[in-house]
Parts: sequence; structure tokens; C-alpha cells
Amino acid sequence: MSKRIGVLTGGGDTPALNATLKGIALECEELGFELIGLMQGWAGVLKQGLYCHLVPGMIDENRGGTILQSSRTNLRASGQIGEAIENLKKLEIDALIPIGGDDTLSVGSELSNDFATTFVTKTIDNDVGSNAPEGGSVDYLQLVNYFCPGFPSAANRIAEYVRDIRTTAYSHNRIIFVEAMGRYAGWLTLASAYGHPDLILVPEIKYEPDNLAACIEKKYRQVGNLVVVVSEGITGEDGKLLTESEELDSFGHARPGGCSELIAQDMKERLPSISSSNLRHQVLAYMQRCGNPIPIDRDTAIQAGRLAVQAIKNDKINHVATIMRTENGIEPQLLHLERVLKRDEDGRVIRRSLDLRFYNAESFRISEAGIEYFRPIFGNLPESFQYPDLNIQYI
Ligand code: F6P
Repeated sequence: MSKRIGVLTGGGDTPALNATLKGIALECEELGFELIGLMQGWAGVLKQGLYCHLVPGMIDENRGGTILQSSRTNLRASGQIGEAIENLKKLEIDALIPIGGDDTLSVGSELSNDFATTFVTKTIDNDVGSNAPEGGSVDYLQLVNYFCPGFPSAANRIAEYVRDIRTTAYSHNRIIFVEAMGRYAGWLTLASAYGHPDLILVPEIKYEPDNLAACIEKKYRQVGNLVVVVSEGITGEDGKLLTESEELDSFGHARPGGCSELIAQDMKERLPSISSSNLRHQVLAYMQRCGNPIPIDRDTAIQAGRLAVQAIKNDKINHVATIMRTENGIEPQLLHLERVLKRDEDGRVIRRSLDLRFYNAESFRISEAGIEYFRPIFGNLPESFQYPDLNIQYI
């Protein structure tokens, strides 16, 4: 039976959104379904919302961002779930596929009580899903949603920036604090390990300035330049973000950002023996989530999109097209919403933190288990570039 499917992309954009849309459009075409693209996230389903008819030829899966555009519209907070359902019915949409992260899925899971909905995740933060059971070694096949589409491309970008910034750190004997996105989860920050930074600070571990200063001083004396990657979500002893904007988004999140400058300043004060002009910071911000997808991200996103449409065809609503690691490698799998999204009593999705078995908090580095996590995405950890010994002498 032919169906009319609606699709929307919500939250921050990622490089793999168009790939997911392409998978959805291809599968719809093959099944003879009609596809309606709702513009600008949840805003598209409200009165005055905008929509378009989507066919595969319109979508370039190799191009980042989202042709449907996005927003952080929160229908739960504004009490507009009913209005959204009315409009979906008015458009004669049989089922909806929201593509989003924790916020988009929180809204979608409420809407799914009254409207046929199936999801595909996306977020560069990689915080939707759940970790392998705690204790002992990691069973990688137990991670639910091994990675969120969008994460591999952003992770690759940050690793490249970190690798590149080394040349400037070396040339000028600098200590450069590079700030990574990821709000409250350290996945993206940890991925920088593939660009061989010296130290990595994830948000799951509170800021300990004494410890960090001692580590920086020792390493700087040995190496003469450092790249330190810090998450924008680093918190202090009080559990509050080191820096955040006063303005809140519609989901009540303060915008993090700027802690690298604060940490650099703090280290300048704690390490007076190092010239303060040698400590610099670099906020990567949107440079991490813009641009085009890497092949593994694009291809899994296409497959996940196709799977969501197949789910609707088979009346499997309230499911999520996830990405799993199986004996066969990385592949999409359809799981029930309840298996993927852990929720608090208000129905808000609980974000997946970085599994701390992937991080060595004493050395501020990725652990062997962390390297194993990234192996199916990036392959083996490449060798770091070594500068030759110049045998420098005094005149
Ligand atoms: O996409 C997730 C994310 O990149 C977070 O890591 C970040 O804090 C946030 O979005 C900022 O996005 P925006 O400025 O678009 O609200």
C-alpha cells in the first residue's frame, strides 16, 4: 500500500544529514512512497510551517548540512504537539521520520504516542544510545547505537585540525589549547586522539587545575610544544560549566563555549616560568560540524535512512534505525525506541556520556579500549609525526 511519509531534521546540523535523507528518499522511491520534507526541524510542522516534495535527485549525499534546514524548536515546551499532529494529518502524512539528537527525539517520542513515528539519530556529540555494560572489559557489540551519523565526520575533522595545529605549536614553541564541541559528552574530544594531541580533557572528569599544570609543565620541558584538547563542556568543582552563555536555547541549554581561553589564562597564572605569549587557545566551534561526510558516515547514514522507511512499511513504528557493531562489522539495525533512549521521569532523553574505559584520566590520553572503539571508524591509530633530532648546539 502506498504511503505518504514526512521527514524533518532537527537540532545542530551534521555532515551526514543529507546522506540519511538520500537513503530515505531512495527507499521511498523504490517502495512507491511519497516523501514530504518538513522545513526547519519541528518548526516545519507548525501552522505556517513549510514543506516540500522530496525525490532522490534533489539530494546530494556527499554534501554536508541539511537541505531541509534545521532549528531547535521545542514543541514540548511550547505545548504544540497537538498542533503538530493536526498539521501532519492535514498534509495526509501517514508516518513521520524525525532525524535528530536527544532533543529532537525527546519531542518525537512524545509525539509518537499519538502519531506513527520512527527515528534516525544524528549528532556530532555521539551522545544518543547507550554504552556497553559496565565492569570488566568492553563488549563492543553491546553498545546501542555504536555511533550517531554525523559523529565520524566531525571526529575526523577534529583529528585533522589537531594534527595540523602541531606544525604551528612546534614552530613557535606554543602550548595551544584546542576547544572541542560535545556539550556534555567527551566522544568528540576523545576522537582528537587520532591527531596525536599531548593531552585530552573530557567533560566527564572535573577540571583539576593543579594536576593539569603539573602535567603541562613536565611535558613542555620535555617536548617544547604542546597541543591540549579541551571539551567545551568541562566543569569545575561545583559541577557547573567553566564558561557558558547566559542565553538559553528552547531546550533550556546554556550555550557552552570559551573554556579554552579560560584554561589558557589559568595556566598562564599557574606556570609563570613559561612565557605567557606561548600559551594560546583555538575554538573550533562550527568548523567541526560543517563540511562534507567521510565515506563510512555517508554510507551508514544512507543505510539507516533506508531502514527507517522499511520499518514504516512493516508497521514497526516507535523504532530507531541505529548503527551497531556486529560480528560482520558496522551495520544499521532497527531497535525499539525504549531500547535506545533512556529517559528521565520528565520523558527527556538521558544523554550517553563517554565510556570512561576509553580514557586514561591520569595521563589525559585515550586508552587501549578507546582505540579499539575507534578502530572500525578510523582503522588503526596512525603513527604520530616525529620531528628529527636537530642536535642543536650553543654558539
Ligand atoms: O550539534 C551539537 C552541538 O554542536 C554542541 O556540541 C554545541 O554545544 C551546540 O551544538 C551548539 O550549537 P548551536 O550554536 O547551533 O546551538
